[in-house]
Amino acid sequence: MIDLQLTDKTHDEARQGEALIMEAPKVLNARKLYIESYGCQMNFADSEIVASILLDQGFETTGDYHEADAIFINTCSIRENAEQRVRNRLSQFGIEKRRNPKLIVGVLGCMAERLKSKFLEEEKLVDMVVGPDAYRDLPQLIEQVGEGQKAINVLLSREETYADISPVRLNGNGITAFISIMRGCDNMCSFCVVPFTRGRERSRDPYSILAEAQDLFDRGYKEVTLLGQNVDSYKWKGADEASETMVNFAQLLEKVALISPDLRIRFSTSHPKDITDEVLYTIKRYDNICNNIHLPVQSGSSRILDIMNRTYTREWYINRIDAIRSIIPDCAISTDVIAGFCTETEEEHQETLSMMDYVGYDFAFCFSYSERPGTLAARKFEDDIPEDVKKRRLQEILLKQQVTSLQRLQASVGKTVRILVEGFSKKSDKDLCGRNDQNAMIVFPAAENVVPGQYVNVVIERCTSATLLGRIAS
Ligand code: SAH
Ligand code: SF4
Ligand code: F3S
Repeated sequence: MIDLQLTDKTHDEARQGEALIMEAPKVLNARKLYIESYGCQMNFADSEIVASILLDQGFETTGDYHEADAIFINTCSIRENAEQRVRNRLSQFGIEKRRNPKLIVGVLGCMAERLKSKFLEEEKLVDMVVGPDAYRDLPQLIEQVGEGQKAINVLLSREETYADISPVRLNGNGITAFISIMRGCDNMCSFCVVPFTRGRERSRDPYSILAEAQDLFDRGYKEVTLLGQNVDSYKWKGADEASETMVNFAQLLEKVALISPDLRIRFSTSHPKDITDEVLYTIKRYDNICNNIHLPVQSGSSRILDIMNRTYTREWYINRIDAIRSIIPDCAISTDVIAGFCTETEEEHQETLSMMDYVGYDFAFCFSYSERPGTLAARKFEDDIPEDVKKRRLQEILLKQQVTSLQRLQASVGKTVRILVEGFSKKSDKDLCGRNDQNAMIVFPAAENVVPGQYVNVVIERCTSATLLGRIAS
């Protein structure tokens, strides 16, 4: 066994630029694959599917693109700057390609799907363009490139969930892992490119999800995060429409939770229009389902929510927050916010700020609106909020969140919390780190009898703006 390295570069939603290490059998004279992933956790999970497909083809992964035979970049289209980052990176890979003309450069993921063959015209160094539902075709596409042709497959599917492919875990802590439970999105929020890049929503067979979670647990993993663009609309009907096998998200959560009380369950993303009390009661009933809900609000104004096509109002959202607070009192709530959507007035922006006050989010991902070609908003509304106004509104949102996040962390000081140890702290190998139920990161001095994968009680002594600091409870 050797250590294989894979470097993932990401944006706001996932861990930033960590070198990810995994173990896999070394193959003699294997071709070397370098994958870099951008975007949401689902893209990261997809890179693990891609790695699995290519390891079966005799590839091994490398963390150094200079020695790669194939460079794959798994891309994100969510905002213009996400795409710009990919373009910049491609020009760096271009230098490598000129040095080694045999190098295969493949663009995967959402940008591949959005731009299709245009990518091959615009970026001459790119050999392959592969959309998110076409990864099973990678071996054949690679062969085509080997024969000197350009290769493309951007077909979207109504069925593909890669249910039978066992992902190669590239997130090397061996303790926490992602499991995709569905793909695509049917919601058509007017600002969002995802329905175009990921296609129709489809749920994955629950038995394959359970088998994957059980296998991870058997291999020592202690936390799984169930992933979907809107997990609350998870629905498995079984082979037969009328059969008893219907499984909704609350039922799926329960089935995964029953694997073992020592396996923690997280999930993302919840949708305010679809999150049910049944889901909330299921979270309450099982200690190992984490008290942590990511419930993107996007805006605090009902008029803006309406033209965003989010299909809920400010009042509806508040009702869902109240339900969470009353059913799961110590639940952490995080969100996504967009500043400066088309036609947003100062008063409507203030409504977003007052919503943030009302909820007191533990954490928020905040963005300024970026028009995406082909979306409903791009076709229907003018992107009329000047950049400097968007920027200022975003600053106000960020500042408010900074204050609230700090307050939420400070409220834990003095308490004893149970955490799952994930590994050594990034800053020092004398400290361990792990997350509590609410997903806050806690750093504490290592002790001989405490190892990654173990649950431990920690007394919180103080906090920084993003981290709790403590010591193991005696
Ligand atoms: N499925 C999730 C979100 C997926 S995209 C949901 O429905 O909540 C992640 C976040 O990116 C969104 O919640 C939104 O806040 C942001 N986002 C999406 N499109 C955007 C755009 N055009 N401009 C700015 N932010 C955007
Ligand atoms: Fe995009 Fe809306 Fe679907 Fe989320 S729910 S992925 S924001 S269309
Ligand atoms: Fe980006 Fe595609 Fe995810 S657009 S946020 S990588 S679904």
